[in-house]
Amino acid sequence: MSRVRVHNFSISLDGFGTGDGQSLEAPFGHAGQRLHAWMFATRFWDDAGTAGVDNAFAERHEPGIGAEIMGAGKFGPPGWQDDAEWRGWWGPNPPFHTPVYVLTHRPRPPLEMDGGTTFHFVDAEPVDALAVAREAADDQDIRIGGGATTLREFLAAGLVDHLHVVQVPIVLGRGVRLWDGLEALEEQYDVEAVSSPSGVTHLTFTR
Ligand SMILES: NC(=O)c1ccc[n+]([C@@H]2O[C@H](COP(=O)([O-])OP(=O)(O)OC[C@H]3O[C@@H](n4cnc5c(N)ncnc54)[C@H](OP(=O)(O)O)[C@@H]3O)[C@@H](O)[C@H]2O)c1
Repeated sequence: MSRVRVHNFSISLDGFGTGDGQSLEAPFGHAGQRLHAWMFATRFWDDAGTAGVDNAFAERHEPGIGAEIMGAGKFGPPGWQDDAEWRGWWGPNPPFHTPVYVLTHRPRPPLEMDGGTTFHFVDAEPVDALAVAREAADDQDIRIGGGATTLREFLAAGLVDHLHVVQVPIVLGRGVRLWDGLEALEEQYDVEAVSSPSGVTHLTFTR
């Protein structure tokens, strides 16, 4: 059976997966780019980047993935549902190259993009959205792409097989938390931690 995976999900020391005040100008709110600075410095992101431990984790994002599920808050800034022209942040050729299922209470017709990405908009419980994505993924794995609200829903429903969280040494103080309501989650997984010279800690939760 295909697995449900999460990669490169970055949180602050106080557990926030995004900052407060998300907008078109500030996709991560007051967090700015600080949650993903570790990743932007890697070869996975930039040909001139580093090739060490951060890169080794980062590049596991792509192989074996046949579909992604993301939340409405990752697909666009608050209110994108009112903009019929909004096609996501990523331009005409988004970096997914698979079907992507966007969870939203205000679905719209699918958007076929260049490079093999099609955005499908679904109003469904996590387990039902996963069944649709799994069918489309054609025996490959399904990635839960975030944000924190969506990932928390899938974790609460016990649907995630492999979770890679990157703890970044910043304190955000406000935003959207990942771990709320997930008491004792760690008991369901083998947990490992790897510290990187960059200052982040890679945590893997594997069922
Ligand atoms: N830290 C990271 O590595 C990382 C990764 C990805 C994204 N992000 C950031 O995280 C932020 C978004 O996270 P977020 O927690 O605010 O939002 P989110 O998880 O992306 O989306 C939550 C929204 O998705 C819709 N939704 C979720 N579950 C649903 C369901 N079962 N049925 C129907 N609709 C459902 C609802 O939107 P509606 O009610 O509006 O339809 C809900 O408010 C962005 O700033 C993004 O840039 C961070």
